[in-house]
Amino acid sequence: MRIDILTALPSLLDSYFNDSILRRAQEKGSAEVHIHDLRTFSEDKHKRVDDYPFGGGAGMVMTLAPIHKAISFLKAERTYDEVIYMSPDGELLDQPLANRLSTLGNLIILCGHYKGVDERVREHLITREVSIGNYVLSGGELPAAVLSDAIIRLLPGVLGDATSALSDSFQDGLVAPPAYTRPEVYGEWAVPKVLMSGHEARIQEWRYQQAVQRTRERRPDLPGLHGMGVE
Ligand code: ADE
Repeated sequence: MRIDILTALPSLLDSYFNDSILRRAQEKGSAEVHIHDLRTFSEDKHKRVDDYPFGGGAGMVMTLAPIHKAISFLKAERTYDEVIYMSPDGELLDQPLANRLSTLGNLIILCGHYKGVDERVREHLITREVSIGNYVLSGGELPAAVLSDAIIRLLPGVLGDATSALSDSFQDGLVAPPAYTRPEVYGEWAVPKVLMSGHEARIQEWRYQQAVQRTRERRPDLPGLHGMGVE
């Protein structure tokens, strides 16, 4: 998979993608992430990518031309499955959406800033809008990193253990069961005995029951409690 991220603040994203699991994914060839500075597509002599809103009001609006040029430049090289705009009023990101996007080939992600983008970008250039939650951040860079991470970790070969993305919270509509590691006893705190039993079937059953109980307590809204997994 290839992800091209368009941003006015590329330095915000560099460190995230050059470290962590996302770097490994790129080194292994599972994902390619390219970060593009929108200012390089600006023809303004000060390389501006925002302007005052028509009709007045507070805040700046990201201008159409650099975004259009950047998207056209990328589309001239290859076809894209989606051009995603990160926005607090977009479709809420959840595990099924991350799963679906992880099956695609090439994505463009546009990070908004200021008071958002000129509406004509949304009308004519964007195919999907995604929000990472019902709160407003100061820019789309963190949301773009969150979305990319949620997608890339699902790609084949990215996680060490091939089954570990499937056993994440939410993949079966349940939260994850508790996990323990050494030491088996720490002062008065001991690991549940069943985990030390070596009895695989009992351990799986215990994990499943823990996941169900936790989901009831913490996230009764999740579909796993009603006999449904997620897509
Ligand atoms: N940009 C600002 N806030 C956002 C959010 N919650 N989700 C996606 N993009 C955003």
